[in-house]
Amino acid sequence: MESTLIFKLKMSPEQIEKFQAFFMEKSGLVFEGRRIQEMESAIAQRLITLGISSFDDYYRRLASAPAASEELNHLALTLTVGETHFFRTPDQFAALRKYVLPELIERARPNGQELRLLSAGCATGEEAYTLCMILHELLPDFNAWKITIRACDINREFLAGARDGTYGERRVRLMDPVTRDRFLERRGKNQWAVKDFLARPIEWSHFNLNAEDYSPLSQGELFHLVLCRNVLIYFNLKNLSRVIERLHAIIHPGGYLMLGYSETLFKISEAFQSVHTPEAFFYQKTEKPLPPLPALPL
Ligand SMILES: C[S@@+](CC[C@H](N)C(=O)[O-])C[C@H]1O[C@@H](n2cnc3c(N)ncnc32)[C@H](O)[C@@H]1O
Repeated sequence: MESTLIFKLKMSPEQIEKFQAFFMEKSGLVFEGRRIQEMESAIAQRLITLGISSFDDYYRRLASAPAASEELNHLALTLTVGETHFFRTPDQFAALRKYVLPELIERARPNGQELRLLSAGCATGEEAYTLCMILHELLPDFNAWKITIRACDINREFLAGARDGTYGERRVRLMDPVTRDRFLERRGKNQWAVKDFLARPIEWSHFNLNAEDYSPLSQGELFHLVLCRNVLIYFNLKNLSRVIERLHAIIHPGGYLMLGYSETLFKISEAFQSVHTPEAFFYQKTEKPLPPLPALPL
């Protein structure tokens, strides 16, 4: 019954444009190509749930609500796909373990043993926990280090899951049993919970990567490594360059940025240089300041 209703609710091209512009402005979410249909059916579902009879009425309700309204949160939840799991794309974590993290560790050893990492678009947290597991493996004296792993997402419900730290079998499927048993413990029949010591260095924060001001995220200090994997799909080209620019500004000179396996900065930003390893590639913030961009014609 419900699915037939959703099927019948179709937006006009003007309504599509209106919602596209709204999401772009309020949350930086971009709905183009096949994602337009996702947007349409998520909103149609909200109309049915709330008993609202037209897209225009719903638009008015959404547009007149405060920026952080519950309704916008609801939609962000439906419209952001949080697919993730521990050690997702193992080759990338192999490259981090073999090259990037040992290098950062050696650089940090004589400098206060401090490392700051960011998981941007962390979804339900597996990426941040995976980073922390690798650091525990690389640092036998982990507790003597000052490690901060900040993890942010626009979706509050994902963040609640991340804080809770309990996962089903599917999420741990890529872990070897020794690693799994060191860092997670069984909860019930098919659930795994993160052990307390693994969660300790992780700070979860609700943050929209489309924001202009990244200071709530960086809190005045730079990161040595930023993972922003499988998040670029949510931004259009213009927003994407801005997001990369802002991430660039909160990374240490010589620090690293890792995108998703199939994501690239080609034709998006020249602020980083790419570094290739047999397992994966990543980006490094060049030590030299970049030449200023040419002024845009008025
Ligand atoms: C597919 S998940 C990626 C999770 C993890 N990084 C990984 O690769 O396994 C994409 C995440 O990006 C988040 N996201 C989308 N737009 C965002 C924005 N503007 N600011 C912060 N997070 C955003 C979504 O909520 C979702 O949790």
